[in-house]
Amino acid sequence: DRPVRVAIAGCGVVGGGLYARLSADPRFQVVGVLVRDPARPRDVAVDPALLTTRADDLLAREPEIVLEALSDGRAGHDLIVKALERGLRVASANKQAISLDPAGLQALAERSGARLAYSAAVGGGVAMIETLRKAREAGPIAGFEAVLNGTVNFMLDRLDQGAPFDQALAEARAAGFAEEDPSADLEGHDSAAKVRLLAYEAFGRLPEHLPLDALNAASPPREAGVRQIGACRSIGGVLGAEVRLKPVEEPLFLALHGERNALRVVGADGRVWTCKGRGAGRHATCESVLADLHDLVAA
Ligand code: HSE
Repeated sequence: DRPVRVAIAGCGVVGGGLYARLSADPRFQVVGVLVRDPARPRDVAVDPALLTTRADDLLAREPEIVLEALSDGRAGHDLIVKALERGLRVASANKQAISLDPAGLQALAERSGARLAYSAAVGGGVAMIETLRKAREAGPIAGFEAVLNGTVNFMLDRLDQGAPFDQALAEARAAGFAEEDPSADLEGHDSAAKVRLLAYEAFGRLPEHLPLDALNAASPPREAGVRQIGACRSIGGVLGAEVRLKPVEEPLFLALHGERNALRVVGADGRVWTCKGRGAGRHATCESVLADLHDLVAA
């Protein structure tokens, strides 16, 4: 069997991890890697002939499957659109890109006979999208609450242990949990994109409101046990959502340590679905993209 031709967009924590795995796997041929700056030092050595800075050039290398792990939402969205228009299969780990317009991207994929998977966009290695789809198949959903940002959870946990703010942030960055620009984590935008995406899976549409609490060095939580909770609920047909820093309430399902993420979904009939696990980091997130890749190969 000839290897499957795969293009990788992005070569950071996730893209670099995917390159390391796929370039060592004879079932796949990496045909290109999209980066902003080919000269930038990387922790994964990429064959320089594969590097390109242009999305059109990446797609001209005739991949069958595109793995999109850019950090920029708009650039990721535009690349996904181009790939789907060509009928390609796409797996994305980019929550900002997918949450811009999940319904539009899915419709485009269907129109062009393409496929779009994004398990890794929410929850890192935790099967959150799959859990919500299962819950939705069983009946209408009333709402969900979740811990969705590994960096912020890790930092709140370290602050509980007495670590200084800057040290907690530096540790989260060194571990590969934080975004390239960690203000996306700290200001709640990363969790907000994930809440939007989960809301789309739960309700088929995006929330009308989504206020955010930021975590910052000037005013970290005073009490211990605070966590960043993303929630969405349908109230009288209106979808309300938020990302708040607050003490975890009973049951303590969301009182997580480290970079863990968790999701609790409640059905309109009171039934509950949950999942939890490693929410960020190279290994957890790459496993999730690779699971999508294997589904797409089989599709
Ligand atoms: N920066 C994100 C987080 C990565 O900390 O959760 C996983 O989406």
